[in-house]
Amino acid sequence: MKTYLVTGGAGFIGSNFIRYLFEKYGDSIRILNVDSLTYAGNLENLKEVSARENYRFFKADIRDKKAIAEIFSEYDVDTVVNFAAESHVDRSIENPEIFVETNVLGTLVMLNCARGAWEGKDGSYPEGKLFLHVSTDEVYGSLENPEDYFYETTPYDPHSPYSASKASSDFLVKAYVDTYHFPACITNCSNNYGPYQFPEKLIPLMINNALTGKSLPVYGDGKNVRDWLYVEDHAKGIDAVIQGGRHGEKYNIGGHNEKQNIEIIHIILDTLRELLPDSDPRKQNVSEDLITYVKDRKGHDRRYAIAPDKIHRELGWEPETDFEAGIRKTIRWYLDHEEWMANVINGDYMKYYEKMYNNR
Ligand code: NAD
Ligand code: DAU
Repeated sequence: MKTYLVTGGAGFIGSNFIRYLFEKYGDSIRILNVDSLTYAGNLENLKEVSARENYRFFKADIRDKKAIAEIFSEYDVDTVVNFAAESHVDRSIENPEIFVETNVLGTLVMLNCARGAWEGKDGSYPEGKLFLHVSTDEVYGSLENPEDYFYETTPYDPHSPYSASKASSDFLVKAYVDTYHFPACITNCSNNYGPYQFPEKLIPLMINNALTGKSLPVYGDGKNVRDWLYVEDHAKGIDAVIQGGRHGEKYNIGGHNEKQNIEIIHIILDTLRELLPDSDPRKQNVSEDLITYVKDRKGHDRRYAIAPDKIHRELGWEPETDFEAGIRKTIRWYLDHEEWMANVINGDYMKYYEKMYNNR
């Protein structure tokens, strides 16, 4: 039975990934989910899988060497999938320190514990071990020329404290590959969207605000471009790299789906109007009049666009869900999970929202 140690599995992408693995591999795998449950971690995201015998949750911090080493000594872990991170750019601008602590030092702890468990006396590693580090396209910086794309060979040029911390963690993984022949791969993915995303990020924030008649805060001129990928396609890409990725390699994962932020907001409003029945009182709130241009994000990257050629060529992966279908599924999910949103938007979220958006 193959054992996966997934960090950050109670967050948005991690929980979607765990559900995907169980759907695909059923009882033939075991998943150990290690998550410290920060504001972004939510065990509600995993309630369908939590009773499975081949699933175990550990409330532990990836910075905690002792707790992580104990898990490695209790289980023969085959694959580490390292999602755990502070993930929101705006929060990193307010408070960079925790980003370095979790994203850099936490990754270092994971690397050390995996190496300690896997490396033989002669410096070799048993067949089948892999550390997959989940990273972002933001490490490559910002594209100015519309014809340019991010390739695996694009030099790193991070701008926010978040992307700088992710770039640092990528370099640590690379250093372990180069120094210790550590069996690792890195994936650099574009913006994800889909069910269970925390409403600090553009798409769920706009859906929730439109439904409740709150203003829709557009940073700057709204023309910044992101390359959106449906979260299940990201899960499939990570799985493809685990199954067939070459050790020591990086793989870019992206949606071939570039859109300006303002376009996304119009699509959300149109789709909400289409999906909500006239009898639903929330429909009356949905209006372009809510769109409000606010002060730009500091250091706001203009455009991200991934060239996922290598993962397609080597592993046959490509995005399967087009944006029209993906955004409909996503909005449908949020409409059907009002209670999930209500639980997430507790006192702490409201405090965050007021701090970030009031008087912006
Ligand atoms: P998220 O913020 O939704 O979830 C992060 C999870 O990590 C949470 O469950 C949180 O509790 C956990 N966590 C945070 N600090 C921890 C710590 N010290 N120890 C243990 N657990 C901790 O993030 P996400 O959007 O699901 O992103 C997951 C990963 O994917 C991150 O590494 C992020 O950089 C990367 N990524 C995200 C996107 C995106 O669009 N969201 C795109 C590319 C890459
Ligand atoms: O590119 C991958 C990255 O995508 C991931 O590594 C990050 O973890 C993830 O958070 C995401 O980063 P972004 O900064 O691109 O995502 P966010 O949803 O915060 O913002 C998307 C765009 O929308 C960005 O140009 C800023 C803008 N925006 C965002 C918010 C929250 C607004 O205009 N208004 C808002 O209220």
